[in-house]
Amino acid sequence: MCPIGGAAIDAVGDPLPAETTASCEHCDAVFLGAVGGPKWSDPTAAVRPEQGLLRLRALLGVYANLRPVKVINELIPASPLKAAKLAGVDLVVVRELTGGIYFGEKTHDETSASDLCTYHSHEIERIVRVAARLAAKRRGKLCSVDKANVLETSRLWRRVTDRIMSSEFPSIELETQLVDAAAMHLLSRPAEFDVIVTENMFGDILTDEASMLAGSLGMLPSASLGESSRGLYEPIHGSAPDIAGKGIANPCGAIASAAMLLRHSLGLHDDANAVDNAITRAIVAGNRTADIAAQGDRVLSTDAMTDCIIGELVQDP
Ligand code: IPM
Ligand code: MG
Repeated sequence: MCPIGGAAIDAVGDPLPAETTASCEHCDAVFLGAVGGPKWSDPTAAVRPEQGLLRLRALLGVYANLRPVKVINELIPASPLKAAKLAGVDLVVVRELTGGIYFGEKTHDETSASDLCTYHSHEIERIVRVAARLAAKRRGKLCSVDKANVLETSRLWRRVTDRIMSSEFPSIELETQLVDAAAMHLLSRPAEFDVIVTENMFGDILTDEASMLAGSLGMLPSASLGESSRGLYEPIHGSAPDIAGKGIANPCGAIASAAMLLRHSLGLHDDANAVDNAITRAIVAGNRTADIAAQGDRVLSTDAMTDCIIGELVQDP
C-alpha cells in the first residue's frame, strides 16, 4: 500500500512520493483509491492531490482508459433517464489519458490563465487502434467524438482517425460525432453506442454523464492501459468528500475495477467474470447502497454491500 494524493502531501509534501513511483513501476497492476478532498482544494495551492494521479498515469504510460457502461436492468429505476432509453445500453468509452489539455503547458497571472491543448498524431493513432480492436470484439461500431468544427486538435484527431480506420480497420463501422451532440445522444439514444473513442477531457466529462445511465457514478470501473499488460485500475468516481467517513459509499465501481485488473493485467478471465457476475447477482437480489436505492429498497452500508458481493462470489465462484 503506497500513499498518493492528499495523504501523500500531508506525509511528505509530494502527491506522488518517490517510494510510490518505485513500487508502482515494479508492479503488474496498480489499484488506486481516489485522490483529493476539501483539505487540499485551495485553488491557489501549487501542490494538489490530482497532480499525483496525473503524474502516475504519465509515468506508467497508461494512455488508454477503458470505461465500460452497462445497464443492469434492476438498476433502471435508479437512473434519472426513462426506462425505455436504457434497455440494452452496453458501451465502452475509450478515453485518451496522457495527452491533451491535461498535460499541456499551464500559465497564469493575476488576470489571465492558459491551458495548452496539444495532440500528436502518434498519440491519436495508438488510442484509435485500442478502441478499434475493442470494437472488433464487440458489436463492430466505433464512434469518435471530437470538436472538429472549432479545435485544431480535433481536426487532427479526425484526420488521423479516418486514416487509421480506413486503412487498418475497414470492417469496423466508424461514425464521428461532435462532443456537444454526443453528450446529447448519450441521453437520447445511449443504446446505439458500442465503443466511443475520445480525447482526455471530453472523455472525463462524457463518462460522468454516462454513469447516470448505469444508475450512479459509484457503479463505473476503469482500466488504464499502455503498451504492456501493466495497468492502473480505479473507479471513475472521486473521493466523494461529502460522504467521507459515513460508510455509505457504493463499492461496486471499485470492485468492478478489481475485476478489470484480474482480466487485463493478470489474464485471469474466469476470475474477472466471477467478480462481475457476483456484483450483478448481489444487485439482482435487491442489495443496494443509498445512491442506487429506489423508494422502499433496503439500504446497505458500504461494508454490508461488499459482504453481499463477496458472499455471492464465495457461493458461486
Ligand atoms: C477521473 C477524475 C480525474 C480526471 C481527476 C481526479 C484528476 O475526474 O479519473 O475521471 O479528471 O481524470
Ligand atoms: Mg472524472
